[in-house]
Amino acid sequence: MAETLEQFHARSINDREGFWAEQARLIDWNEPFRQVLDYSRPPFARWFVGGTTNLCHNAVDRHLASLGDKPALIYVSTETGAERTWTFAELHREVMRMAAIMQAHGVGRGDRVLIYMPMIAEAVFAILACARIGAIHSVVFGGFASNSLAARIDDATPKMLISADAGSRAGKIIEYKPLIERALGMCAHQPDKVLMVDRHLAAFEPVPGRDLDYATEREAHIDAEIPVTWLESNEVSYTLYTSGTTGKPKGVQRDVGGYAVALAASMAHIFDGRPGETYFATSDIGWVVGHSYIIYGPLIAGMATIVYEGTPVRPDAGILWQLVEKYRVTVMFSAPTAIRVLKKQDSAWLTKYDTSSLRSLFLAGEPLDEPTARWIAEGLGRQVIDNYWQTETGWPILSVAHAIENTPVRHGSPGKVLYGYDVRLLHEQTGEEVGANEKGVITIVPPLPPGCMQTVWGDDARFVSTYFESIPGRMVYSTFDWGLRDEDGYYFILGRTDDVINVAGHRLGTREIEESISSHPAVAECAVVGVADSLKGQVAVAFAVLKDPDAHAQPDRKLALEGEIMAVVDKSLGAVARPARVHLVTALPKTRSGKVLRRSIQALCEDRDPGDLTTIEEPATLDQIRDALGR
Ligand code: PRX
Repeated sequence: MAETLEQFHARSINDREGFWAEQARLIDWNEPFRQVLDYSRPPFARWFVGGTTNLCHNAVDRHLASLGDKPALIYVSTETGAERTWTFAELHREVMRMAAIMQAHGVGRGDRVLIYMPMIAEAVFAILACARIGAIHSVVFGGFASNSLAARIDDATPKMLISADAGSRAGKIIEYKPLIERALGMCAHQPDKVLMVDRHLAAFEPVPGRDLDYATEREAHIDAEIPVTWLESNEVSYTLYTSGTTGKPKGVQRDVGGYAVALAASMAHIFDGRPGETYFATSDIGWVVGHSYIIYGPLIAGMATIVYEGTPVRPDAGILWQLVEKYRVTVMFSAPTAIRVLKKQDSAWLTKYDTSSLRSLFLAGEPLDEPTARWIAEGLGRQVIDNYWQTETGWPILSVAHAIENTPVRHGSPGKVLYGYDVRLLHEQTGEEVGANEKGVITIVPPLPPGCMQTVWGDDARFVSTYFESIPGRMVYSTFDWGLRDEDGYYFILGRTDDVINVAGHRLGTREIEESISSHPAVAECAVVGVADSLKGQVAVAFAVLKDPDAHAQPDRKLALEGEIMAVVDKSLGAVARPARVHLVTALPKTRSGKVLRRSIQALCEDRDPGDLTTIEEPATLDQIRDALGR
């Protein structure tokens, strides 16, 4: 008899090694592993010890015999009009060319390659080429600007940086070269080579001796045959930076074998994607969804993957469904904000195209509100599946796994706990487990399953202290999300416990935005909070105190400064982090010990009660916040 999700989950926890040894058969190994799990140094888990494998082999080479002439990569840009398909055999060739370019310029096993690219096929070639030769890729979201880029370059210390002349969003060209030069001007570390893909969207000056032209290099390596480098399962495949409580982003570090197994298992059990079919994730390669479910997951499963550069509403609000029809997409992955954007358009777009190939639409990255879930599920007549996870875990923690059991979805809940995760809801202070329908911190009892982060790049101590020491007396992994579970085992996500905000599914640290704003010479200090927004989930709202108190009496100057502050954030972090509003005040509400009362500010912004104010130093500061908000 088939297992239920609950039984499947129980087996994954009670017979952890047996369970994952079975899942490990979903991928190719060059040499078998000696040990399923080495947990001799908690909380560090090492999976499939001694086994050698390769992500690029499993994503590409493995399929050559059976799927060589079938589509692997489908590239569509509604920004440039480009549209092209590569078969597995063609993708294989392009990846080998890219790998040859890297090797020719000194990139080898364990070296870092920083990829700062728009949504173009070459970004996929670059990522897979790194995997092929054992170089560690670190992709930086193309919407980030110089300061974000510089911080990541200095932390990852890449030998090579791969980029392009420009990205394009909603018809607006974003030139990358000036951002790169500005970032490198701030960096202590300099890459030896900068490989530039010239899309002819923006003119730029190559730096002689350092910059390489991709088209020229590709020609030089057109016949390259670069064999896969077999890597021990626990070698590093990539780092991906993500925001937390401090201003310094963390390099989430992942392994090779555990990640490959986890993705293969998720494709089989959760996404139910089959070889020869097409997968379409609308995320960006700069985020974890892009890594796991634009690139590696679908390709490992032998599916074609669509890489889409464009928005959901250009040229019209039917574009996503038009692509579903054209490429017979069976599994789709998007974010609630994209669906809320579509919800503002005519719902007739949902039925204009034949989307009957689609089995499920998965949504993740931010809370999926019930009306949005219902609207899209009914409009498409398709199953909509919420799933909850993080950059740190690499694949879903909560959802339903319909290839295991047809658990009904409940709109408003991302679902039940998935196999591999020993999830506990804990009281923030006592560390005790909370009961059904009680709010607690979502935590995971280690060892974390395969595919989850190994550590923080270059900082094991930070990995332990950040993630495993936040709940008193319990060494558990904290997600920093509040949640509750009902009597039936369905979870509900109730917001972050830390200073991370989620704007249109983009995870941002308010401290990073505060640091950026504080770099404006007129600003003395500031506070940034996340405020509920009906379209984007949350937006950042900033309150800044000026050094010159007289400026407050000058409305023109205030207006100009608000604009300048937004421009500073645009330039240093990128438009994704730009606050929706900047309010200028003469003081921030603080406790007597000087801590800014961010929660109270946030509450006022959302027109809620500011909470316990017994520790406030100067109550009048709250009135200023109210005034600024026009309340
Ligand atoms: O707060 C949770 C929210 O997004 C955070 C993780 O963001 P990121 O690292 O960018 O990874 C996204 C991977 C899909 C979580 O800590 N989040 C993610 N998925 C959901 C969610 N909140 C509610 N519902 C979800 N399905």
